[in-house]
This record gives sequence, C-alpha cells and structure tokens, in this order.
Amino acid sequence: MIRLLFIGDVVGRSGRTAVLEQVPLLRARWALDFVVVNGENAAGGFGLTEAIFQEFLDVGVDAVTLGNHAFDQREALVFIERRPRLIRPVNFPPGTPGRGAVVIENSNRVRLLIVNVMGRIFMDALDDPFAAVRRELGLYPLGAACDASIVDFHAEASSEKWAFGHFVDGKASVMVGTHTHTPSADHRILAGGTGFITDVGMTGDYDSVIGMDKEEPVRRFTSRISSGRFEPALGPATLCAVAAEIGPDGLTKAIAPVRIGGLLSPAEPSFWN
Ligand SMILES: [Fe+2]
Ligand SMILES: [Fe+2]
Repeated sequence: MIRLLFIGDVVGRSGRTAVLEQVPLLRARWALDFVVVNGENAAGGFGLTEAIFQEFLDVGVDAVTLGNHAFDQREALVFIERRPRLIRPVNFPPGTPGRGAVVIENSNRVRLLIVNVMGRIFMDALDDPFAAVRRELGLYPLGAACDASIVDFHAEASSEKWAFGHFVDGKASVMVGTHTHTPSADHRILAGGTGFITDVGMTGDYDSVIGMDKEEPVRRFTSRISSGRFEPALGPATLCAVAAEIGPDGLTKAIAPVRIGGLLSPAEPSFWN
C-alpha cells in the first residue's frame, strides 16, 4: 500500500507555518510515502520563492504543484528549470519554463507520477486540459512507468472538476481539485478506482476571504474601489489535505479529508490510526 498526503493551496506565512510544523509530525505518525503540496499562494499569497520551496523540501515535502499564480514571483521562471520537484500546469503554452508532469521515486523505490493542470472555465484561456493529461497519462502508464499517480486539477468550476475526475477514472490513482480554497465534502472513490475530491481547500487562515485579510476584498466588492493590496490573513491556519491509500494495482482503496488547526472542524483518516 502507498500512503499519499496532498496538502491544498498554502496561503502566506500562516499556511507555511502549518506546513512546516505539521508535515514532519504527520510523515512520522502516518508513515507517509509521499507528501505533495500546492504552493501557488505560499509567498505572500502570490506565487512561490525558491527559499520557501526549499523550506518545504527540508521538512519532508516531496514535490510542490502550482496553478494560475505559478509565476507571480518572477524568480520562479528561472529556478523552476533547476527544480524538477516543482511542477507547473502542464497546459501552459509551449516554451513555458519548467515541467507539468514528473515521476519522483522515494527511498523504497516507489514511483509517483505528479501532474498539475489548469481548468478553463472562469480561468485563463489555456490549451485543453483533458487532451494534455490524456497525453501525460499515456506517456507514464500506471503500473508500468509509475506505481501511483496524482493529478492536481487546478480549476474554478466544480462541473469541470467532476468531468475531469471521470475522464481520468481508472487511469490515475487520485485526482484532487485545487484553487477555490474551500474544502468540499465529496471525497470518494470513483467507479474505476480513482480517488477524487472537488477541492482540497486551502491551508491558511479561514477568518479571511480565501486566505486574504478580509477588509480589502469586502471593500472592493462593496465599493468597486481598491484602497490597498491584498495581504494574507495572519491568524492560525487550518491545514487542509487529502489522505489516500493506494493499492498494488495503483488504484485508491481509501480516501479521507484532513483538517488540522485553525477555525475548521478537525478531520483525520480513520484508516491510518
Ligand atoms: Fe490558490
Ligand atoms: Fe489558483
């Protein structure tokens, strides 16, 4: 069995603190094989720096995925080229720095394929995410090129996310939705054996507007006038994640939400205790 933890969009210092504190504890407690984190909002809510990326690796994160904020910190355009465990959406235009799909191997020689891809509904106009992921899953078939796989589908619309789950059902171990920063309660195993959730939720302060200090967003919604920058909220984070147990056939046998700390009600997988 392969034990995988995927942590949703880490927002600012509050979210980073939760990752740095919790990942070493959870790795040991649950004997995790892989920890993957969405880091697109880790640096002040916008993008990721190399220093933060390294901090995540140092506490036991295996790989970091991104999204529409991938290159908000311009340095990411450069350092992503020398960091194979940093993965940006696979359907960015040809010539974009970095990779959208990577196979990593842990110390037990277990291989995990990680694909990051962006949806198109209420998002930037990008290449077809369905075709892009079909191509990557074809290049790295489950059971041949990898022992397990996870697709981080970074998208706004739940309909597109459900459709994507069914599209990869039986071909990927897990499909997690990210980007809305709001955890959904629909984690389940699809008919073909793929673990699924519409959105993992963010790792950040929920006394906020999707992780940002609430005053400025509320002002903009009510007055249409921006009077300041969006800044991450600084209260204690809820670490939001999904735990998945993947069998020898590469399909998911158990999936559960994880919520630790902060304002949301706690949740942990019963199958690892
Ligand atoms: Fe995000
Ligand atoms: Fe996003």
